[in-house]
Amino acid sequence: DLKLNMTINCKKRIKGTYFPPGDKSISHRILILTGQAVGESQISNLLEGEDVLNTLKVMKMLGANIKKKDGKYIVFGLPPGALFEPTKSLDFGNSGTGIRLLSGIISSNNIKAKLIGDKSLSARPMRRVTDHLKKIGAIIKLRKDSFPPMSIQGVGDAVPFKYDILIPSAQIKSAIMLSALNTKGLVEIKEYKSTRDHTENMLKAMGYNIRVKEDLTHRYIKMKNDKDLKNIKYNVPGDPSSAAFFITAACLKPGSKLVIKNMLYNKTRIGFIKTLKKMGAEIQVINKRKVNFEILADLKIDQKKFLKPTILEANDVPLQVDEIPILSIAASFAGGKSVFKGLKELTVKESNRLELVHQNLKNMGVKSEVKGFDLHIYGNYELKKGGAKIIHHHDHRIVMSFYIANLICIKNNVIKDKSSVKTSYPSFFKDTGKYFH
Ligand code: S3P
Repeated sequence: DLKLNMTINCKKRIKGTYFPPGDKSISHRILILTGQAVGESQISNLLEGEDVLNTLKVMKMLGANIKKKDGKYIVFGLPPGALFEPTKSLDFGNSGTGIRLLSGIISSNNIKAKLIGDKSLSARPMRRVTDHLKKIGAIIKLRKDSFPPMSIQGVGDAVPFKYDILIPSAQIKSAIMLSALNTKGLVEIKEYKSTRDHTENMLKAMGYNIRVKEDLTHRYIKMKNDKDLKNIKYNVPGDPSSAAFFITAACLKPGSKLVIKNMLYNKTRIGFIKTLKKMGAEIQVINKRKVNFEILADLKIDQKKFLKPTILEANDVPLQVDEIPILSIAASFAGGKSVFKGLKELTVKESNRLELVHQNLKNMGVKSEVKGFDLHIYGNYELKKGGAKIIHHHDHRIVMSFYIANLICIKNNVIKDKSSVKTSYPSFFKDTGKYFH
């Protein structure tokens, strides 16, 4: 059986026309923002991963009317400031985006709520958002002054502020922006421009009063709540962070040919494409178009040569923050030493991804070192690596990354309990079956 597996795996090519599932970041945001827009909105291609479904449930508990009809979600929202006080705890499961974004919106409503999550979420730092949200007048309590459960007594008359965000994080920024929806006066935000800007783009698409400027390093946002959020018809683009598993696999497996359709091509999300290209991957970008202030594109990959190692600078990490685990698999098959610098934020994701990537690479026979927050990977073209028992702490992206490694290696890694994948990519295993021939 093992022998059979071995031959099948390393002989497979990745081929076909692939439509990635709906983008997770955008799915959270469109549910939240249409939930704050009066009138009927329609969402198609919403990601039906557990993280997003938890945000959907919470928005319903806060008073939004959301129904599924003919594959689309129909939302009737409440105007900002009109959220209902929930009668039960709001459970965000595994989702940092869900809990942090909703903490923002709740903080500027005159309601009380308790926000909870699973074991992983209950160990993730929340002060990065709550320290900002306390300034508007919200009273917020955290376990050990740091972690969920989070109880919030929000305010109906939030005070407008100027914020300077020192950690590059779209979740922190978006929490503040969502609190601004029910804040009278001018809210100003300064942040690193490498974080994803979907909240900004969606607010523009919904007719909100928002100005965004960027210089070399920073982004400056000004918001005023003197215009309503307009209801919208929104088709969620394909998730580049989910597509990254298939894109990387296609760049590694000799003879692969893959077309990727309808993928979000926002510049804050495609750092990994640049990295793979720098490593020598042949990725062609076609049909670039702009819809609802987001760029979409189709891609074509034609694998012809092995990848080269690369150096990733710390400033570029936010542009591919969720793709480092799969890029580490790419680096492990590139001939020579790759260095990913400044991975501090990876230590506070769904798991300590820096540590788990390092441990698992080591266990599958790839030399790897962690120096401070830098990850050094000594790759080679050898397909004989593998045979590790993968430690994943139920982190979806660790599971998917090392599952992709399995489809390339001759020796299988053992991955027990892959159920966490459904938080972001419920059809992942079905898709690997479909595109690996
Ligand atoms: C996300 C932002 C990122 C990312 C997460 C989704 C978002 O987190 O890692 O998967 O949708 O805003 P940070 O902004 O906290 O780095």
